[in-house]
Amino acid sequence: MPNKKILIRKALYEDIENIAALDAYVFRENAWSTESFTRELDLHFSRLFIAEIDNKFAGYALAWYIADEVQLMRIAVLPDFQRYKVGTQLIQHVINHTDNQKKIVLEVADNNTSAIRFYTSLGFHSVGFRKNYYRFDNAILMEKNINHED
Ligand SMILES: CC(C)(COP(=O)(O)OP(=O)(O)OC[C@H]1O[C@@H](n2cnc3c(N)ncnc32)[C@H](O)[C@@H]1OP(=O)(O)O)[C@@H](O)C(=O)NCCC(=O)NCCS
Repeated sequence: MPNKKILIRKALYEDIENIAALDAYVFRENAWSTESFTRELDLHFSRLFIAEIDNKFAGYALAWYIADEVQLMRIAVLPDFQRYKVGTQLIQHVINHTDNQKKIVLEVADNNTSAIRFYTSLGFHSVGFRKNYYRFDNAILMEKNINHED
């Protein structure tokens, strides 16, 4: 696995089943339906990317590009492919597809320590807190400035 190439590409209709299955596995009662993901393919401000390793689905990221911000809506990597920088490459791809957006923002459950560590490792920092944002959890708001020179 360490030397395998990670391919990131735009999601197609036929990828939605894999995306929704992973979303259901990691986000459980907060998962999106296949219909919700399918709708994203037609929204002009939304971009859905998938990661593949050896032509196998490994993860996805969904982001909304609105005005001067990119909102990271969802990101997940299959457990077998975690800690191999798939998530890092997905975020980098989201950033590479910005137009004039100045920052990337997201909300993460305050008990999701691995995701918070992941975002921190990529240069995100905490800018706020929302109590009871999710059904049972609080949310931490995080953001990272986009340097278009990078
Ligand atoms: C968060 C997630 C997308 C990270 O994907 P990933 O491909 O495993 O992340 P990467 O391999 O790119 O990790 C980059 C760095 O982030 C940090 N990191 C990632 N996962 C971590 C974990 N479980 N514990 C501690 N640090 C972690 C590490 O610093 C890591 O670098 P290292 O492996 O060299 O130490 C993945 O764990 C996941 O799908 N989680 C479930 C879904 C989720 O919580 N999504 C976010 C909701 S807001």
